Amino acid sequence: LDNGLARTPPMGWMSWTAFYCEIDCVKHPTGCINEQLYKDMTDRLAEDGYLEAGYHSVHIDDCWSEMERDSNGVLVANKTRFPSGMKALAKYMHDKGINFGIYEDYGTKTCGGYPGSYQHLKTDAETFAAWDVDYLKLDGCNINLDLMPIGYPEMGRELNKTGRPIIYSCSWPAYLVDQPQKVDYNLIGKWCNTWRNFDDINSSWKSIQSIINYYDHNQDKHIPTHGPGKWHDPDMLVIGNPGITVDMSLAQMTIWCIWAAPLIMSNDLRIIGKEFRDILLNKEAIRINQDRMGIMGRLVANTTDIGLYVKPLSSESPEVSLSFAIAILNRNLSTPKSVQFHLKHLGLTNQFGYRVREIWSGKDYGRKMPHDEVEIRVNPTSAALFRADPLAGNEPRFEKKPEMP
Ligand code: DGJ
Repeated sequence: LDNGLARTPPMGWMSWTAFYCEIDCVKHPTGCINEQLYKDMTDRLAEDGYLEAGYHSVHIDDCWSEMERDSNGVLVANKTRFPSGMKALAKYMHDKGINFGIYEDYGTKTCGGYPGSYQHLKTDAETFAAWDVDYLKLDGCNINLDLMPIGYPEMGRELNKTGRPIIYSCSWPAYLVDQPQKVDYNLIGKWCNTWRNFDDINSSWKSIQSIINYYDHNQDKHIPTHGPGKWHDPDMLVIGNPGITVDMSLAQMTIWCIWAAPLIMSNDLRIIGKEFRDILLNKEAIRINQDRMGIMGRLVANTTDIGLYVKPLSSESPEVSLSFAIAILNRNLSTPKSVQFHLKHLGLTNQFGYRVREIWSGKDYGRKMPHDEVEIRVNPTSAALFRADPLAGNEPRFEKKPEMP
């Protein structure tokens, strides 16, 4: 959507996959959908380095509202769990430099059974604008699928009419997974800043793996329709959650970065371990994700265990050649794999070679020529992420020092 928003992939925190629709705040005082949860996460983003790294929004998901609209047909936040109301919550976030994301559903009800926007699109767009919302996720439960190409654009127009810049995320294609012939990403990208294509993620390797498979299979449809202002969204980062190891976290972060996918975490930032936080905050990985060209990386080589992806990056000397990110995913569940590749086989042909570094280990490979082989060992359910910057002429400072005999 060409509304000037989301020129790089959105980054933030969203409640769903970590807290779902937990509304029992008596039993789960620190793990239920209430204003304190979102304030806590706002504080964590602002104070623990996330905001500085680029994660700049907090998103409410389902189950935030009263079960009924008010007598004027206006949505109201649940009075017990959001006693201060949404505008006050927005202010809390804005005062700390964080954007406010909210959730609704195009259907008669949300997936969780709360009032949906069907026949209330205009009112709801105005309500969200009045609450100072910066981002709307519009889900697609409880609606006739044939209405999607009507309702999603309609909400887009209503948001636009409010005059408030609101990033618009559509779940539209995710509900058409079984009818891919009805999914026109050029149309969706005309109306939405970002959209979900596939099943909900959960905190398991199986789920991460199934999303990666789906994207791999559909990359020829996805790659040309992805870019600034219009992002395919493979769903939230589950890094830091029980069941997700450090290796799996490296794999998810690597692949989401090579895809230029939205980086929206769903985890508990109050208790996350340092090893996970460091992955989420890795500047070089985020720099790859946020590259201004916004190109989705491509799977260029594939075996049962190994996937190799390449993503062109803007470079400081584009007249010479582009930079590239290279990702290597090891899908094997138990065996580390050694992988060798030649830059020229991946389309890296700059005659003076590239300075090659691996992001997670920090290993500098020095200058690599297109015909040189690069080798790395990747843990099971993990990934490596390289950055290759083109060199111009003979820059000796990038020559690898000869090994001592
Ligand atoms: C389905 C969406 O895909 C999820 O991300 C989440 O928003 C739930 N609905 C909420 O009910």
